[in-house]
Amino acid sequence: MEFDNVYNDRERAEAYARLEFPGTYYLAYRDLPPIIAGHVRGTAALDFGCGTGRSTRFLHRLGFAAIGVDIADDMIKLARAKDPGSEYVLVKDGDLGHWRDKAFDLVLSVFTFDNIPTMQKKVALFTDLGNLLNEGGKIISLVSSPDIYTHEWASFTTRDFPENKFARSGDKVKIIMTDVTDRRPVEDIIWSDEDYRKVYEQAGLTLVHTCRPLAREDEPFTWVNETRIAPWVVYVLERP
Ligand SMILES: C[S@@+](CC[C@H](N)C(=O)[O-])C[C@H]1O[C@@H](n2cnc3c(N)ncnc32)[C@H](O)[C@@H]1O
Repeated sequence: MEFDNVYNDRERAEAYARLEFPGTYYLAYRDLPPIIAGHVRGTAALDFGCGTGRSTRFLHRLGFAAIGVDIADDMIKLARAKDPGSEYVLVKDGDLGHWRDKAFDLVLSVFTFDNIPTMQKKVALFTDLGNLLNEGGKIISLVSSPDIYTHEWASFTTRDFPENKFARSGDKVKIIMTDVTDRRPVEDIIWSDEDYRKVYEQAGLTLVHTCRPLAREDEPFTWVNETRIAPWVVYVLERP
């Protein structure tokens, strides 16, 4: 199956660079600080799939010495422009040889695995990311739940893509971001919880915590389905 990373695109990168934490994105990031505090010791972090650096800057604010890495040149350029004092590294897809083994206390990956097709590729990347963890280190991976592609949300619409309902793990699905002016559909890969668990097992990782954040009525956003259906899943992983 051909799958193009839609983020290697100047217009998309510019839209993404203006995005902070509105609506459904707020919910994605809301619970990460306590999850990180509860599982991670040390401050050396790699932000895998950093995009324009939103997740890397988030880690800096939590006190991490975080390095951002991405395969999309357009994204990395804007990450560097927004945060010139920090390290953002452009890599070739699947090549994490830039870092020595056991270099990090935390590998964070926010939304990145939504854009990585096939079991084989996911397993290979999680294996390599696991090798980058030092003793006690954790991978925290936040991904879209399959439900995100079949419902409406504060920050996304999928109503133009009824075919998403029939998609199985590994299929392409489409979604539109409503907080940005670039309304071209984003193409992702849908992946079930069951299949993520198979990926972790094959990559030699142990799943230590799973979180499916739900929104609360008292939060300052106009929630659509976020209070009853979780759009995101957070996995905390370690090497046994
Ligand atoms: C939706 S963006 C998220 C950016 C950032 N984590 C955030 O929360 O704002 C996903 C990013 O993952 C990157 N990506 C996709 N496949 C990748 C891979 N194999 N290695 C590294 N980055 C990848 C894309 O280029 C894109 O910038």
